[in-house]
Amino acid sequence: MSKKKLVFSGVQPTGNLHLGNYLGALKNFVSLQKEMSCIYCVVDLHAITIFQKPDQLRNSVLETVASFLATGIDPNKSIIFNQSAVSGHAELAWILNCISRIGWLNRMTQFKDKAGSDKEKASVGLYIYPNLMAADILLYKATHVPVGADQKQHLELSRDIAQKFNNDFNCKDFFPLPEPLIPKNISRVMSLRDGTKKMSKSEESDYSRINLKDSADEISKKIKKAKSDSDQIPDNLKDLENKPEALNLINIYSEISKINLDKALNEMSGKEYSFLKKKLADLLINEITPVGKEINKLLSDKGNLEKILEKGKEKANIIAEENLKNIREKVGLI
Ligand code: TRP
Repeated sequence: MSKKKLVFSGVQPTGNLHLGNYLGALKNFVSLQKEMSCIYCVVDLHAITIFQKPDQLRNSVLETVASFLATGIDPNKSIIFNQSAVSGHAELAWILNCISRIGWLNRMTQFKDKAGSDKEKASVGLYIYPNLMAADILLYKATHVPVGADQKQHLELSRDIAQKFNNDFNCKDFFPLPEPLIPKNISRVMSLRDGTKKMSKSEESDYSRINLKDSADEISKKIKKAKSDSDQIPDNLKDLENKPEALNLINIYSEISKINLDKALNEMSGKEYSFLKKKLADLLINEITPVGKEINKLLSDKGNLEKILEKGKEKANIIAEENLKNIREKVGLI
């Protein structure tokens, strides 16, 4: 029996989206729309597991929606909404909190990273964050989940939770076990200042990342200043892998010019980094600045963005309520 394929993914509304989000997530979201039904959620409830200033949070949600639209997610094809608008996420998360095990959560490496050295001070929400993520996915009975490699462990937890629910309530196949869709080539865009760290909006230096709203001038400066080394570009993958910053630049170059890594390396080997950087900056300016302009244009009409969220919420809610009705029944809630 083949069940209908359904894609679900979530993006946290925490400030500007950058090249890592664009290559690692958004572009993939856009192409998936052609093959499957897709639900793309701005996960504001996940964001507040770490304190957010309310006004900033509101802005970031709209900015994330604008970034979705500007990269080509089509609200007439896919469902775009914010998580807190559909109360089923929080409700199912509670039920799943009772299915998920403390031992399972204790293995989550992202919590350990995010909570830092003083775990006693992390919010309880941050700890059970992966259960909420499972609820996001299972609320729609999603079958495919495009995520970065850093979310793989959370997705495995979602599968464990789905399976335990199906076992506990004797309803084999009730929740499909969601499959991760992890981009093969570019699972990670790294910081331009440190090739061993992921490109991130929380890194202090803005020179570590290309933001979708950066101007041509900013992109060019950031690529020029990106860390590399004084050697020439190596001629084989093995040597390149020992130079994380060079690998990152070639990786971005291959992705943005739509050629594979081997071919990109072939083209660049033996050349100076300045040659690669010039070419890369031109390509990035071509691809990213129109997206940034579109984001700004969309942000100038917040009412329109709110309308899109409202429509998405209505569509999401219909699916969520139907599934929740069956979930409540399985659990024995009247
Ligand atoms: N945890 C994900 C991240 O930080 C975001 C997310 C929340 C998500 N819920 C999701 C991703 C459901 C995929 C499916 O990137």
